[in-house]
Amino acid sequence: MNSKNMLKKSPKVVVVGAGIAGVGAAGKLITQGLTDVQIIEASSQPGGRIRASLFGKSAIDEGAQYIHGASMKNPIFQLAKEHGLLWETHDRSGSELSVLTNMQKQLDPDVIKEVKNLASSILRNAHLLADQKGYTQAKSLADVYLEEVKMLLTQWDGDHIDLRRQKQGLLSMFMKWQCVHLATDGLSEVSVHEYEEYKNIDGDDRNFQGLFPTLLQKLLEAIPREKLLLKKPVKQILWNGSFESEDGSMYPVRVVCEDGDHILADHVIFSISLGCLKANGQSLFQPRLPEQKLSAIQSMGFGTMNKIYLEYEAPFWDENTDIIGLVWEEETPLSGQKPNLAEWWKRVPVFHVVRPTERYGHVLVGTISGKEAEFVESLNLQEVASSFTCLFRQFTGRSSLPELKNVFVTKWFSNPYTRGSYSHISINSTGAMIDLLTEPLPQATEGSSSPMLQVLFAGEATHRSYHSTTHGALLSGWREATRLIDHYSTK
Ligand SMILES: Cc1cc2nc3c(=O)[nH]c(=O)nc-3n(C[C@H](O)[C@H](O)[C@H](O)COP(=O)(O)OP(=O)(O)OC[C@H]3O[C@@H](n4cnc5c(N)ncnc54)[C@H](O)[C@@H]3O)c2cc1C
Ligand SMILES: *[C@@H]1O[C@H](CO)[C@@H](O)[C@H](O)[C@H]1NC(C)=O
Ligand SMILES: *[C@@H]1O[C@H](CO)[C@@H](O)[C@H](O)[C@H]1NC(C)=O
Repeated sequence: MNSKNMLKKSPKVVVVGAGIAGVGAAGKLITQGLTDVQIIEASSQPGGRIRASLFGKSAIDEGAQYIHGASMKNPIFQLAKEHGLLWETHDRSGSELSVLTNMQKQLDPDVIKEVKNLASSILRNAHLLADQKGYTQAKSLADVYLEEVKMLLTQWDGDHIDLRRQKQGLLSMFMKWQCVHLATDGLSEVSVHEYEEYKNIDGDDRNFQGLFPTLLQKLLEAIPREKLLLKKPVKQILWNGSFESEDGSMYPVRVVCEDGDHILADHVIFSISLGCLKANGQSLFQPRLPEQKLSAIQSMGFGTMNKIYLEYEAPFWDENTDIIGLVWEEETPLSGQKPNLAEWWKRVPVFHVVRPTERYGHVLVGTISGKEAEFVESLNLQEVASSFTCLFRQFTGRSSLPELKNVFVTKWFSNPYTRGSYSHISINSTGAMIDLLTEPLPQATEGSSSPMLQVLFAGEATHRSYHSTTHGALLSGWREATRLIDHYSTK
């Protein structure tokens, strides 16, 4: 370090992005004594993919809503517990799944359970099945799923034609549901190794509608208000430089904002979504990101999953139904591999009943992924509402089913500060690419005389085993904060 650097009181850290990764990183830095922190956020509020919006009687979650692995091994669960936010789980047993078909049938719970277990075991074990069954060419989850489905269909040859159609339709429904979980257009885009890399945390997936925005507020309490700059999109990061501040101190990094402001830093923790990195990664950094990193960014998977909230005057579903599954009897997983924008609503596998009713009113939330999820963002709400009125009239056989009161569609794909929903391991990428993306700059080999850890990478997509989740995002922010804390404590 040169003598001017030595004069600085405390290293200056800029965190780009105030999602849970950025907020978590800043909070940890401040509580551990690296207090010269500035968070720069593009939108008018912090939270990123944790976001509440008014709908009907209350605020609903546009983004994260489930704790995946609700146990003390999950840092989100831990924090929620510490802050006393678990007093109410809105999910009861959570998964009373009632499946209707477009032929007005209600499917047998035992059949649903059987097919559900088959579908999820194929996908969870896809990488093992690929080895065991010699699907040596298998690259994607679809390569395994479709082979296994073909076998199942032969096994079901003896079943009554109606039952077989229903089971096929169920396999197709569960496939679409899986695509929602993976935020992908199709299983053919997702690596057969996805569930080898992604790790489940002990505990159920529990529905905590309304919890995440409150949890984010708790994390924000650790950060003095003036350290958070809103409505300030970052345009470029100039790194590996030598920039002089007004007081004569030298910094290696200069953060350039869209509004022309420049902020100097010793370290930048970069936490914007992989979707934004894909769109702007080439121009965001000067010097350019190393080729390997750019190529990892391009190859990694990042897709869209949207939510569709519907509000009714009165429920048409059963009191004890938690989830309404939708089966199109003529469908099989082997058909319909192409996007069908003309009938985009067929991509919605399930609607969840939003609880508690006293807080939300009679509200359903549907999920949709892929090209159809991008398309639904462009439709006017009247059109969306009438599509589902038609659909539910067809599925229930009740032509008198009332019109909707209110409808809301999330727009994660067209949101310029997310450009999609979350990441997965695509057929073109590997778990190792996540580690590559995560490596700080400058790389150890580049000019060892330049200051280390100028640009660090956090965010959901940088967590190899928990990508796509809030706990992955939070842990990634803590990881990068800890990297800096360790850097200074070992000096
Ligand atoms: C529809 C949906 C449902 C989900 N459901 C769940 C769930 O049930 N459970 C779960 O655990 N996870 C869920 N997730 C995933 C979870 O929300 C994310 O993994 C997590 O919130 C990501 O946090 P992050 O900090 O990495 O990124 P983000 O939240 O995207 O934060 C990045 C921040 O950077 C800002 N930014 C972008 N560009 C710039 C720029 N140029 N300059 C400055 N700031 C910029 C953005 O505005 C944003 O605030 C869901 C996500 C979506 C979209
Ligand atoms: C994988 O890479 C090929 C070749 O570059 C490309 O055409 C394809 O769209 C990519 N697929 C995915 C899912 O990223
Ligand atoms: C960073 O700066 C050093 C010293 O000027 C130089 O040798 C090195 O090539 C630079 N690295 C990049 C990625 O530009």
